[in-house]
Amino acid sequence: MAFPAAFLDNLTARSDIVDIVGGYVTLTRRGGDYWGCCPFHHEKTPSFHVAPDRQMYYCFGCKKGGGVINFVMEIENLPYPDAIRFLAKRAGLEVPEDNQGADESRRRARLLQLNRDAALFYHRLLKSAPEGQPVRDYLQRRQILWKTAVRFGMGASPNSWDALLNAMTRQGYQKAELLEAGLVVKNKKGGFYDKFRNRLMLPVVDIRGDVVAFGSRVLDKSEPKYMNSPDTPVYSKRRVLYGMNLAKNTKRPGFLLCEGNLDVVTLHQAGIDNAVASMGTALTAEQAQLVNRFRKKELVFCYDNDNAGEIASERALDLLRTAGFTIRVLQLPRRRTENGEYVKQDPDDFIKFQGVDAFERLLNNSERAADYRMSQIAAKHDLKTDEGRLQYSQEAAAFIVTIDNAVERDIYTNRAAEAAGVGEAAMRELVQRTAKADYARERRRELRRDLNPAAQIVQPQERALRYENVRSARAEEGLIRLLLMDDGIFPNPFPLTREQFSSPLCGKAFFILWDAKQEGRPLSLYLLTEQLKQEEMSQIVAILNQPESSANAARALSDYIGVIREESGKRGAAGAQEDALTKLTRKYQKQKTKGGMRT
Ligand code: UTP
Ligand code: MN
Repeated sequence: MAFPAAFLDNLTARSDIVDIVGGYVTLTRRGGDYWGCCPFHHEKTPSFHVAPDRQMYYCFGCKKGGGVINFVMEIENLPYPDAIRFLAKRAGLEVPEDNQGADESRRRARLLQLNRDAALFYHRLLKSAPEGQPVRDYLQRRQILWKTAVRFGMGASPNSWDALLNAMTRQGYQKAELLEAGLVVKNKKGGFYDKFRNRLMLPVVDIRGDVVAFGSRVLDKSEPKYMNSPDTPVYSKRRVLYGMNLAKNTKRPGFLLCEGNLDVVTLHQAGIDNAVASMGTALTAEQAQLVNRFRKKELVFCYDNDNAGEIASERALDLLRTAGFTIRVLQLPRRRTENGEYVKQDPDDFIKFQGVDAFERLLNNSERAADYRMSQIAAKHDLKTDEGRLQYSQEAAAFIVTIDNAVERDIYTNRAAEAAGVGEAAMRELVQRTAKADYARERRRELRRDLNPAAQIVQPQERALRYENVRSARAEEGLIRLLLMDDGIFPNPFPLTREQFSSPLCGKAFFILWDAKQEGRPLSLYLLTEQLKQEEMSQIVAILNQPESSANAARALSDYIGVIREESGKRGAAGAQEDALTKLTRKYQKQKTKGGMRT
């Protein structure tokens, strides 16, 4: 155990799950419980349940669940020890630090401190050192004001192989740490050199305000134009959006997502303070989740590219759509150059050439995602042929039924009719038929599920956790419920061994709790958090959500023990039989190989 039990018991007693979850999710009280929209899978009707009595949460939609520590781990993306520290800070408790579990988070904290010190080093050079002059000139060429450079913590990496290396080792950092942070690179001979040289440095700051990585740009036309930190223990590029640390405070109704770091810089400088960048890649599902945390309702994509697949992953779009985001695509017009060519522009170019007012005007008229999608579908088919019109109608109908808003559905039905050159009534009928077919399919699926309720309720989501013996597993689940409900009724010593449990997960969970009981600790779900994986925790919470009669607890207990004993007995016998069988098989196979060798 990494943290002392007394400390953990005290900490969890002071970390009420309703308080903590309530900081992220709007919870509504219903009976003794609370409900809200799940922060992990995005939905409009609440299926996220918080039970204050058992201090647990469970989403009936995405089936994630756990105790308060799991919640912090998931939502803040922290490993277990850091989640403990997070809660301790919140509760005003000192963390006893003399344990090995602290090593991991001490390492993370040190990496973050190193990044911060590196950013400071680069920033000082940019501010006044002679080595910073080329970058200062560059900022001036790009019309980036000093005030903006400060707001984004910009810096200058000097034209040197070891300036940062020397400065940071002088401050007491190890070369290995610099390597781990992605700030230096190892050469073939085993020596180290600075990764970023002669570049404008753009620290990547997460929403907690930590410097987690760096982006950087060359000052001339050489390659690579942008160079970013690799993923490190404190940085996953899939999870971070450049500029979100500032944009999260915007008063605007949503976020503006663009491609480049310097687009974000220019936009903020022009007062468009809701701009963030995915740093050259399509929006990932993790980034979409991040966007969704700030309860905004609108996301405007402003990419050079007009292909949705390259703007965002399908999963990211799905997440945003089900979270109720209005998604719009801002297409910037091409710009005519002096020699009559038309060239693409990014927000940075556009603001430079057309000004911020023109940008705001475009922003207000940007195309809605549904329009965009409809025109994409139209572009796929030849609407001059009957076949093309039919295919277009069907595909458009399939899309229209996914629109939630009835008014919008109507508008697009009419528009599709027009595009396909068919009557509005015919198009409406096609949409209705498509919706009915979808509904029927869904209903058939539900019926199939209803026919087999036991399998549905009992079997874990996760394939790896599936029960071999459902009868025994149900009893094992019951034991876990009873133990957390009223451990006083359990016989001590307990008459079953871990091997008699058919489900490894149930056995593990039960005996972690049982051992804690022997140590006289108050039993609660959080005791499992450190040793179980998130999927396992979710399954345990699903188990705890099943009804259990407290009136007949003692009776149920002896029934459960009886079932487990019986089933494990059968297994024992079957195991013995199987053994004999395996022996026979092995013997047979040996003979066969011998035979094979002879011919
Ligand atoms: P662009 O090449 O469109 O650059 O890359 P830009 O943002 O317009 O940059 P300027 O205006 O020439 O300075 C868009 C984004 O893609 C990522 C960067 O985050 C960049 O801001 N990128 C680009 C890389 O990560 N590596 C590269 O080599 C190029
Ligand atoms: Mn640009």
